[in-house]
Amino acid sequence: MCGIVGYVGRRDVLAADGSADPAPGINSHSALDVVLEGLRRLEYRGYDSAGVAVIADGGIESRKKSGKLSNLIDELDARPLPQSLTGIGHTRWATHGGPTDQNAHPHLADGDQLAVIHNGIIENFAEIKASLTAKGHTFRSETDTEVAAVLLGDIYRSLAAKGEASLTKAMQLACQKLEGAFTLLAIHQEQPDVVVAARRNSPLVVGLGENENFLGSDVSGFIDFTRRAVELGQDQIVTITPDSFEITDFHGQPAEGTEFEVNWDAAAAEKGGYPSFMEKEINDQPAAVGDTLLGRADANGRLMLDEVRIDPELLKSVDKIIVLACGTSAYAGQVAKYAIEHWCRIPTEVELSHEFRYRDPIVDGNTLVVSISQSGETMDTLMAVRYAREQGAKTVAICNTNGSTIPRESDAVLYTHAGPEIAVASTKAFLAQITAAYLLGLYLAQLRGLKFQGEIRDILSDLGAIPKKIQAILDNADQIKKLAREMADTKSVLFLGRHVGFPVAMEGALKLKELAYIHAEGFAAGELKHGPIALIEEGQPVFVVVPSPRGRHSLHSKVVSNIQEIRARGAKTIVIAEEGDEAVRAYAEHVFYIPETPTLLAPLLATVPLQMFACELATAKGYDVDQPRNLAKSVTVE
Ligand code: G6P
Repeated sequence: MCGIVGYVGRRDVLAADGSADPAPGINSHSALDVVLEGLRRLEYRGYDSAGVAVIADGGIESRKKSGKLSNLIDELDARPLPQSLTGIGHTRWATHGGPTDQNAHPHLADGDQLAVIHNGIIENFAEIKASLTAKGHTFRSETDTEVAAVLLGDIYRSLAAKGEASLTKAMQLACQKLEGAFTLLAIHQEQPDVVVAARRNSPLVVGLGENENFLGSDVSGFIDFTRRAVELGQDQIVTITPDSFEITDFHGQPAEGTEFEVNWDAAAAEKGGYPSFMEKEINDQPAAVGDTLLGRADANGRLMLDEVRIDPELLKSVDKIIVLACGTSAYAGQVAKYAIEHWCRIPTEVELSHEFRYRDPIVDGNTLVVSISQSGETMDTLMAVRYAREQGAKTVAICNTNGSTIPRESDAVLYTHAGPEIAVASTKAFLAQITAAYLLGLYLAQLRGLKFQGEIRDILSDLGAIPKKIQAILDNADQIKKLAREMADTKSVLFLGRHVGFPVAMEGALKLKELAYIHAEGFAAGELKHGPIALIEEGQPVFVVVPSPRGRHSLHSKVVSNIQEIRARGAKTIVIAEEGDEAVRAYAEHVFYIPETPTLLAPLLATVPLQMFACELATAKGYDVDQPRNLAKSVTVE
């Protein structure tokens, strides 16, 4: 939610003509190039508006535009900015104030000498605004960000009046007054080689270069320029110059960050020849699952989850698991529940993070809380994890993003290795999360002696076969894509599933809502008769995720009965079934076969045709599948 980039490079590399091209051997880039490249990579975080500010010719220059980043780039072509080595940039997901040019960031203050960008929500902005107004300050936007900018400018000016001008000090004092969640970045023309940033409950990482330093909402903001990064803690302020970075708390006390090496490949964050990130990421899924399994077990199938640093004795005493997540990640959690309860016999609840904290949940020292988050920054999930820790629970994060907040605030982390996921709606991270949850379930079963080593080895080997099976589905995409194009005018689609097929059905419906803006609902097939069947009328398309006929036969035959019930009422049935399941043919308008796999692992396959369907249908309607309207990838406000 909102992407933020900051850059400062060495001013003495500016050529005599003022151009910022680095002298040979000196690593400094033009601030605008760095900032725009970072924004391009961070645009998935919000695309209501975008803006930049640079310090050039002794002053602040800024451009901002509502709509996507391309609008800002057009504006920069029409009204170019002077060369500069200090700059900040922002791509916005609107909270306070509509997505207009005026409300776009940066916001200027202190006589337009100071520029500020912000991610998050400042909760006490109204109160601060009132006191600043009383002091004679005026405002040009409806945003909480401008209030922070004016406050920072006011404080800076008072410090300057005492001969103590310091943007860092001003930021410390401003942050002491601000409530809520925020990452703030500021530049001031009187301190041209400095970018100051603050973070409270919103993401921020530092990138370390040679003669230049970077700031980003996540490492994609500077992945093209450096792989050395520093994680910051909560309530910290960082000041970057071309040759240094200094961290303090909000009261000026020195603090430390944790340096790490970025292991994402910049090319992995490109489309790689696909028309969209969404298509690329759907096609990345064999690798996402394969890489998440890599190196987790020895040759005998003994799981070694080194990142799960929780004392094994504590894990043995866990008597309840609560899985917390939002959106697609919550559906991964629902799949995890079936596997964990089956393998570990530990009661497992799955709860939407935003509901959890407000219902007085029963959590204690014997509870294991498993959070699932692609970004590691979802505010609701972060708050729920904090709450659980306060209640004494042990917390494990399943996360895809190194250096993000949720894993850092958890007792342990199990990273998914899906690589950067750029398309807003999640695909490959979902399959990687399910894979990681299976590993965690098996690990707990191993620790508690509930499965023989051979059994675990067999399940791991079934999991090891999944990437090839996903590939087979991807290689056979024509049939589902053709159907998607034919259905481009459909107004409503229902999805039915049972057991692990139920979360798959809900995820299929969510993808269609998110990408194609079509009304879609996922139901447990058994619930059909208790209400949803009333929705069935002649021609209503219904996807049915049919369980394997090999496993528990009763489940298969019950779902087949459900298909008959809706068909009898005019539904057009589209069935996802296991290869060789001839019984379903008679009841389906269309059948899409997926390779054989044990029932519990089937979501890793059954989800794929549903993702392809939604992506193709939305593309046929002419929608941007990477950046669906109103959404943002990383929801860092509650
Ligand atoms: C947003 C995204 C979803 C994602 C959800 C949870 O709503 O649009 O695709 O599933 O957040 O995100 P997380 O990063 O916590 O997995």
